[in-house]
Amino acid sequence: MQHKRYNRKKTFLKQITAIILLIILMVTISQIGLYVLKSEKMPFRSSFNLDVKEADTSLGWNLILVNNENKIPTNYEIELTELSNGKKVDKRIYPQLQKMMDAARSTGLELFVREGYRTTREQQKIMEEKMEEYRNDGYSSKEAKRMAKKYVAVPGTSEHQLGLSVDINADTSQCSSEAVYIWLEENAYKYGFIKRYPAEKTEITGVNDEPWHYRYVGEEDATKIQGSGLCLEEYIAQLMQ
Ligand code: DAL
Ligand code: ZN
Repeated sequence: MQHKRYNRKKTFLKQITAIILLIILMVTISQIGLYVLKSEKMPFRSSFNLDVKEADTSLGWNLILVNNENKIPTNYEIELTELSNGKKVDKRIYPQLQKMMDAARSTGLELFVREGYRTTREQQKIMEEKMEEYRNDGYSSKEAKRMAKKYVAVPGTSEHQLGLSVDINADTSQCSSEAVYIWLEENAYKYGFIKRYPAEKTEITGVNDEPWHYRYVGEEDATKIQGSGLCLEEYIAQLMQ
């Protein structure tokens, strides 16, 4: 009798312990879930050193200069429009972008927006992947970072995060990249876009030649920039004088 009672007590204690453990497990899982949900919504901060000044917006939204010396201002607000392929851009540049794409297509070119707006998190991922590529090639972390920066802007300083820039690519099954790049170089300014990282300006922009990357500045300024042969850094420096 004594023995039976002892066993029942033991079983009961085991059950209680199991229930308590189960409750602890469920609470832990739900806390982790909540944390993940919250961190998805939390503004993502670049893990790179962003010890540079905030970009000047006094010349108007279309002439904001974002580069390795000027980061995107905190609380910079963007209203995005989604393109038919799911890429997004600042809604203010959409009509001109569409006109430019239509004009290029009317000449027989097949092209598409490969990249538009990027979040800081996306920019960070691209930067990390580029750095990893270099590290895999045997470069030190420091070298990998230095080299990656020539292709990818440090998160927090990319024009893609403004939604004002697009990377335009050719559908190479239909036409050559070269044909698209030449058309853009000759015509994009008519729609308010400039080739942002010309080969001959890498010393100033800090970015290698990117014949696909076009930045909206508006027709008036794009026409002046095209005529002057200046890059955006030089053009803005002149306006600020
Ligand atoms: N590729 C350009 C520099 C960017 O990442 O914004
Ligand atoms: Zn780009």
